[in-house]
Order: sequence, then structure tokens, then C-alpha cells
Amino acid sequence: MGKILVTGARGQLGSDLVVALRQHYGEMEVIETGRQLPGQVALKQGVSKPESLCHQHRSLLYEVLDVTDRPRLQELIQTHQIDTIYHLAGLLSAKGEQQPNQCWDININGLRNVLEAAKTYGMKVFFPSSIAVFGPHSPKLDTPQITISDPSTMYGITKLTGELLCHYYAYQWGVDVRSLRLPGIISYNTFLGGGTTDFAVEMFHAALKNETYTCFIHPETRLPMMYISDAIQAILTLMQADPAVISIRTSYNIAAISFSARELVTEIQKHLPDFVCHYKPDFRQAIADSWPSVIDDSRARADWGWRHTYHLPAIVEEMLAKLSHKKVLSFEF
Ligand code: SER
Repeated sequence: MGKILVTGARGQLGSDLVVALRQHYGEMEVIETGRQLPGQVALKQGVSKPESLCHQHRSLLYEVLDVTDRPRLQELIQTHQIDTIYHLAGLLSAKGEQQPNQCWDININGLRNVLEAAKTYGMKVFFPSSIAVFGPHSPKLDTPQITISDPSTMYGITKLTGELLCHYYAYQWGVDVRSLRLPGIISYNTFLGGGTTDFAVEMFHAALKNETYTCFIHPETRLPMMYISDAIQAILTLMQADPAVISIRTSYNIAAISFSARELVTEIQKHLPDFVCHYKPDFRQAIADSWPSVIDDSRARADWGWRHTYHLPAIVEEMLAKLSHKKVLSFEF
């Protein structure tokens, strides 16, 4: 068996996915990549990551990679004998609106490089798509797997185009590429930002620091969300599924829960009653307004047995516990 390469490995999804992949496939089997050296990323994030590898091994398993650099990607695939890529590198929705050209370049050309390499080397690929593929004319409730998709953000446009590229490479070239339309992810390990659903993570940090939070999304805007453990489980299950059951090669709708900013505040206040949140919607409100509130993921549930575990009360309880613990840890260092 070949090794696994993860692009965008120190991002919100990657930092937890790498830990899970190493647990499943072996610590030395997973190569992390990112545009910067890990130290620079950690400094930006201001957080530490659970690591069981010694420094020497860790540096052997981390490579600098700009995904738009096709020769470098190919070099890494050959050097490490990669047979699976989890292609997580990309710009999120809010950052994508500020840097639309860079968003197109990284999200589209990066994916094309990965798919071309997958075609050449016979690799399996995971590609994270998003609820952002839907737009103002998509149904807001129980958004079907196949429906009107008219994304109004550059991020959504790149994800929708990316899905079509995945479908094309799967059917034209037999590339085993699998994808999920992920909702907002709530996690505690790493947080780089740039997304519209970031308020749902930022709120926890503010609440634990006894700070008043100013939410950039309207209190009643309801968006699809998922706890990081469910997201990692979904990715692992999808990638381990028998290829015969994968009937969608664009990207699967996947859902867990949906909540509004106000509902999240109320749930946090059950633990931290003094927490105060004000609302000052900015340009990200228009992005959120263009997205669905609840999506229908029945194909994922039927095809490969997707089930989520975490509901809002459990997410809030675990987020507060994990982040409090991290605060103690970072204090000790
Ligand atoms: N969480 C992402 C964002 O807000 C959506 O895919 O950009």
C-alpha cells in the first residue's frame, strides 16, 4: 500500500484529519503538506496540536507544497509513493470574496493538479466541497442532492466547478475521487479563519475569555453545521466505502444539524450565563443568506451509511471542555 498525502494539512479540517488518518493507517503513512513550514502555521494559529511523533519524524512527514505548483506535487507523489490524496488546501468563502483571483487560482488550479496527478499515478482522492455550491435560487429547506445551483460567491463557484471536474475525471479517466458538501465545521484544535460560518467557533473563544462577542451574522440566520468528530468520521467512512456503492461522483450532500447564532448563544449561556453577544452583520451576511438552512443528505445515508452523532447540546459541552483544557495547556507552556 502507498502512503497518504494531505494538502492544507494544518488547516481546520486537516489538523484533526491527519491525527485520525495516522491512528487508522499508521503514523509514518501520512505526509502532511502546506504552503508554509509548520512552525509558521502554529505561530499564526497560536495553538498546539496533539502530536505523538518526535520532532525528527514529524519534519520527515511534513513537506512544503503550494498546490498550484504541479511539478512539486508530482515530485512529492513519487518521492513518498503516494496512493491517496486528501486535497484540503483552498480558500474559504469570506477570504475568497476578498481575494477572488487567488481563490480561483488555488481552488481550481490546485484541484486540477491533484486530479491530473491522480489520473497519471492511479491515486484515490478526497475533495471537500461545500454547502456554498448552492445559491439564492436553490431551495433553502431540505435542499436536494440535485437541484438549482447558482452560487453567488467565488468560493461557491470554485467548489461547484471543482465538483464537475471530479465527476469528469471519475467518468472520463476512472479516477476514484470522492467528495462531500461540508457544512460549517465546529472544532477546537486549529482555527485559521476565512469562512462565513467562523462565528460559530469564534463565539466559544470569546465566551471562555469572558469577552462580549460581536457576531457578523444575523441572530436568526440558520445554517447547516457539523462537529469536527462527525466530519472526520464522514470523510473516513466515505473513503473506506466500497467503490460500488458510490453513486455520486460530483459531491454528496451531507448534514448533521442546523442552528442560528441566537440558538448557539442560548446553548452557551446554559454553561456560561454571563456570556453576551451583540449582532453586527457585515458582508458575510449576504453570503450566509445565499446558502441553504437545512440540506437533504439521504443519498449519503443510503449509499454508504452516513449517520451523525453530535447535536447542539453535546457540541457546546465538548467545545467548552476541550477549549478550557487547551487554555490550561497553553498556560503551562
Ligand atoms: N465553512 C465554509 C465557509 O464558511 C463553508 O464551506 O466558508
